Formats: sequence, C-alpha cells, structure tokens
Amino acid sequence: MAKRVSDNKFRDRLMAAARRAMKNAHAPYSKFKVGAALLTTKGKMFVGCNVENASYGMTNCAERTAIFTAVAQLGPKMEIRAIAVANTHNAPCSPCGACRQVIYEFGPKAVVFFRGKSGHEKELPITDLLPEGFRPQ
Ligand code: THU
Repeated sequence: MAKRVSDNKFRDRLMAAARRAMKNAHAPYSKFKVGAALLTTKGKMFVGCNVENASYGMTNCAERTAIFTAVAQLGPKMEIRAIAVANTHNAPCSPCGACRQVIYEFGPKAVVFFRGKSGHEKELPITDLLPEGFRPQ
C-alpha cells in the first residue's frame, strides 16, 4: 500500500521549521505568534511568520508570508506539496479562510498539517479545508 504523506519525515521537518519561524513573528497586538513552513513539489522549503500592524487589518498571516516568499523566490509556477502551521500557545490553529484560498491557488493538491480543535495534530488536504475553492476558468 502507498505510504501516507504523514509517514514521511518531511512532516516533522516542516513542523520543526514552522516552530523556528514563529519566533520571528511580529505579533505585539494579539501576542499570538504563528509560524508556517511549506514544501514545494520540487522539494524546496520556505518559512513564514505572522506580521501584524498597528492598523490591524494590514496583518499578514504566517501561511501567506511563507507562500509569498516562495513565489518571490521561485516564481508563480511553484506548487505547494505540503504546509505546516505552528503557534507559540500550542493552541488549535488551522489556516484562516483567506489563507486557505491562497494555499489552494498555489497547491490545489496540498496537504495541511496543523493542530486541530481536539488538540491533536491533523493532516488534511486543502480541498477538505476549502471545498469548492475559487479558480477562474
Ligand atoms: N494567524 C496566522 O498567522 N495564521 C493562522 O493560521 C491564524 C492566525 C495570525 C494572525 C494574527 O496575527 C494572529 O494570528 C491572531 O489572529
């Protein structure tokens, strides 16, 4: 039987990288530091953290920071294979709706690793988190 993606060592590597990245977060308003790490289909890893602003709506989530960094480095054809999210509170934290749409744009087959509401680590395809994501024809 084919190995599940969770059996692969990259899940632990991505989680560890997300934890390192969350330390760089700029989160003086929420005090909720988040880190994300993504793996492209070609095996490159990129990290991001949340960057808040005194004008709260300008905040950028960790996931989108990682994705935009990957696009800046590799161009818009880069494809996300997997993305992991971590936070300093060890709290349940799945990607927000906006980030789900951005993950879907660059990784329609991506797998997302995050702590679920039950407190357990979860692994779900982005299409489970965002059914019927928007994509122009
Ligand atoms: N945040 C993320 O960076 N990623 C998520 O998946 C959820 C929320 C950030 C946004 C804000 O800076 C802080 O967490 C509190 O909402």
